[in-house]
Amino acid sequence: MSRAKPLSQMLGLGLALVAALAASGCKLVDTDNKAAAQGGPPAGGPPPPPPYQMRAKIEAGDRLHTSVTGADLFSHRCGACHLTWGMGTNLLTAQQVAAGKTPDKGLLANRDDLTADYVKSVVRMGKGAMPRQTRVDVTDSELDKIAAYLGKGK
Ligand code: HEC
Repeated sequence: MSRAKPLSQMLGLGLALVAALAASGCKLVDTDNKAAAQGGPPAGGPPPPPPYQMRAKIEAGDRLHTSVTGADLFSHRCGACHLTWGMGTNLLTAQQVAAGKTPDKGLLANRDDLTADYVKSVVRMGKGAMPRQTRVDVTDSELDKIAAYLGKGK
């Protein structure tokens, strides 16, 4: 049966390792990145936010007779889930790929098989993991525009 090595022997090994690292010029701390070393943001700034956080801004206005475009309304009202990296996109990409389609079809805006009526019914009734959207979330006027934007299929 082997006995545990004495502490002094293990310490010696550790010190030898540190000395070897220092001798090989391997830097444990990135001293070139001065801003980060001083506690500031990393060089080049923080990474850009993902697309689903960069949705179109919609000014307050008449939501019952909206003049905002379908693309902007889709980005704003549905984009948290249906832009790149959104949870809806992730789930639909898996479904589309499983059905033999290309991964870009995971984005609803790239689909050409959706009809306006289908989009409206999914939005109002929900589907699987997608919760239904009420008339407070998306007004009928807004949904008409979104459905016309997405409904390229006939
Ligand atoms: C909370 C996240 C979420 C929001 C908000 C959301 N969706 Fe979805 N959507 C999903 C998910 C997840 C699925 C996939 C559901 C499943 O198959 O289980 C989906 C599926 C769909 C489908 C069905 C696609 C297919 O292949 O059958 C349509 C159409 C759709 N969404 C349209 C919209 C529209 C339009 C909006 C905005 C008004 C919207 N969704 C808002 C999460 C969302």
